[in-house]
Amino acid sequence: MKESKFHILIVDDVDENRFALESLLDEEIENLIIYQASSGHEALDIVLGKPIELIILDIQMPGMNGFEVARLLKSKKNTSDIPIVFLTAVFKSEAFQQEGFDIGAIDYMTKPIDEHQMINKIKLYLQVYRKEKELEKLNNELESINLTLEERVISEVKKNRQKDKMLEIQSRHAEMGEMIGAIAHQWLQPLNTIGLYVQNLNMKYKRGLINEDMMDGFQNNMMKQIKHMSDTMNDFRNFFKPTQKSKFSLKSSIKDVVYLIEKQYSTNDIIIDISCLNDGKICGYENEFKQVILNIFNNAKDAMIEREIEERKIVVKIFKEGTKEIILIRDKAGGIPIDIVNRVFEPYFTTKHDKGTGVGLYMSKNIIEKIGGNISVQNIENGAEFRIEVNECEEGYF
Ligand SMILES: Nc1ncnc2c1ncn2[C@@H]1O[C@H](COP(=O)(O)OP(=O)(O)OP(=O)(O)O)[C@@H](O)[C@H]1O
Ligand SMILES: [Mg+2]
Repeated sequence: MKESKFHILIVDDVDENRFALESLLDEEIENLIIYQASSGHEALDIVLGKPIELIILDIQMPGMNGFEVARLLKSKKNTSDIPIVFLTAVFKSEAFQQEGFDIGAIDYMTKPIDEHQMINKIKLYLQVYRKEKELEKLNNELESINLTLEERVISEVKKNRQKDKMLEIQSRHAEMGEMIGAIAHQWLQPLNTIGLYVQNLNMKYKRGLINEDMMDGFQNNMMKQIKHMSDTMNDFRNFFKPTQKSKFSLKSSIKDVVYLIEKQYSTNDIIIDISCLNDGKICGYENEFKQVILNIFNNAKDAMIEREIEERKIVVKIFKEGTKEIILIRDKAGGIPIDIVNRVFEPYFTTKHDKGTGVGLYMSKNIIEKIGGNISVQNIENGAEFRIEVNECEEGYF
């Protein structure tokens, strides 16, 4: 790489001095651009307009003297770091030298000078200044990289949060859609019963059999059915309410889920078999946990229906391994194709086209990891096995 030129300013009111110095420097140092000023004012003008990297400054000059020029340059932000070397034939005393250094000069040379030594020093000063400038530039670049990096990290984190919020809403909508199907099934029986009672009432009226006892019985039975329907509706509504962190039983939580969906599942000939070796308790958000279980059940249900599986059974096992509570949920729906089994927890990954959003398992993973647990899946004899591991809740936690 070609070295860029060094810019030097020589300030001296005596023309011969300037020209002699210029030709000496020109001869001895490569890549120089030399400017000359015959007075302090001229020097200031040049410094402001050119990229000066070293100033060789005479002291005794008419008008502004060298010390005054140096003081002015050192007091201005843009010029304060330009190295100044005083060169004088007159002001040789220690006191003047001290003053020169006090102003901020890097050297104070007195005539007659050792040319060889002066050239070496000037070369060195130029190199050091260049390096300092490069370092400063690098630092500034680094600082701005750090700054943009920080900004990017903050904006990515924000975007991720928004994405997760959206996914959560989508997954909730999908589950609510499924739940409407389950409610419809739960309501089917009481609606049929109400229908039969109403027909029966009409028949009895036509035969003139209606009396007060009969009407009381009718009202009681109707109210029972209506209460059942309203309880079911409340169960479903509660299912989607966010819950506080609490200690809850895995078994009863999973049973609550089964209770909500069993009517719908039995119409599709699906049974859920729960075996519980240990009624473990975990700490977490119970409704969110139930949604995880529901999503795994619904995935098994979808696979069994789509693939027209004969043996429609979902087996749930709850047991303990060390300090961990383990839940295994197995089906015999044929399993997850080997090429996609590693992708089912990705957001929007679905094989159900318009019928699935693909966020169910992604959200399930988020929910389980939020309480320090782990969820995984593997294929086992003719089906899929989901495994959820969560730390048991310590005694007295709540
Ligand atoms: N038990 C299973 N048997 C076979 N494939 C499964 C099973 N569970 C999950 N999958 C596969 O994993 C994919 C992702 O499941 P996930 O629950 O994340 O989304 P989805 O069910 O497709 O849509 P939704 O957002 O409505 O739940 C499913 O589309 C399906 O291909
Ligand atoms: Mg799903």
